[in-house]
Amino acid sequence: MNNRQVSESEAPGSDQARLVAEARDGRVVEVQAAVGTSLLEASDGPEGPIPFCCRSASCGTCRVEVLEGADCLSQPDDDELDVLSMYAESPDRVRLACQAKLCVTGGSVRVRALEQ
Ligand code: FES
Repeated sequence: MNNRQVSESEAPGSDQARLVAEARDGRVVEVQAAVGTSLLEASDGPEGPIPFCCRSASCGTCRVEVLEGADCLSQPDDDELDVLSMYAESPDRVRLACQAKLCVTGGSVRVRALEQ
């Protein structure tokens, strides 16, 4: 497995949460990001582990399986639920990384990308 670690540019503060995001090819990105940041924003970069297209709850490319910390994520809105239903995915297990936001200070979330 080819792991890499990326740190948030800001020093960890009291409003930060941890995200571990696994790509389909086995790469792992770990970041600290501000509460309120989407999973996609938090892990984005030239070789970000989560593929995306629209960033607006339309395409479903950014679907991730939530492995840990589902209770540290914002609740899905109607747009996200509509896209997940197109893929027959349950929001209890799968979220859109462009919509799900870190919402618990000190929380920890682990996800795995479902698309290549
Ligand atoms: S990037 Fe299209 S739904 Fe998230």
